Amino acid sequence: MQMGPIRSAMSNFGKALRGKPSAVDADTFRSVMRQLAGCVTVISTEDAGSLYGFTATAVCSVCAEPPTILIAVNRTARTYPHIDRKGAYAVNILADGQKHIAEHFAGKKDNQFDTVEHTIGAMGVPLITGAAAHLECNVDQKISIGTHTLFVGRVIGSGVDALKPLIYHDAKYGLVSHI
Ligand SMILES: Cc1cc2nc3c(=O)[nH]c(=O)nc-3n(C[C@H](O)[C@H](O)[C@H](O)COP(=O)(O)O)c2cc1C
Repeated sequence: MQMGPIRSAMSNFGKALRGKPSAVDADTFRSVMRQLAGCVTVISTEDAGSLYGFTATAVCSVCAEPPTILIAVNRTARTYPHIDRKGAYAVNILADGQKHIAEHFAGKKDNQFDTVEHTIGAMGVPLITGAAAHLECNVDQKISIGTHTLFVGRVIGSGVDALKPLIYHDAKYGLVSHI
């Protein structure tokens, strides 16, 4: 199929930009992203009998048919190699009373699940008790971009509790009070 003149011009523009240094540096990018409020989650997994997790906001719905999400994981995170090996993870969407759990999983302690109440899901990954919701996923695709890897996950299990979620905005935890 032939491209119209506008699509052709846009495609050439895209090609010209690709590979060029960005006019937006990392600090500017971070300050803009602070404005993007997001739900706070804990990504959890299991590997060789041990449980792992970290606090994350880079979680995105991809499509409902088939039910698919993606997470962006820094490859320096301790949990990264375990998600990679296990090929499965859970997204625990924290409830508004679980700020202490978000802080706990953003920290550097070992054996973080020892002090957090949880159950074990069908794939062996931990599900945090009292979360607003959770999704259990099998890794379907892996895409490395810069410092992070996107794990596209096929959702194979879920649970919802009627609780409001914990929100992160401008480097602060907050509550949804007007919805
Ligand atoms: C609110 C919040 C959101 C975060 N989101 C992500 C994220 O989406 N992906 C990521 O790799 N790290 C994210 N982090 C950082 C990790 O939680 C943190 O670096 C964690 O300690 C890394 O795991 P490790 O200490 O076991 O290496 C976030 C931290 C906070 C406080």
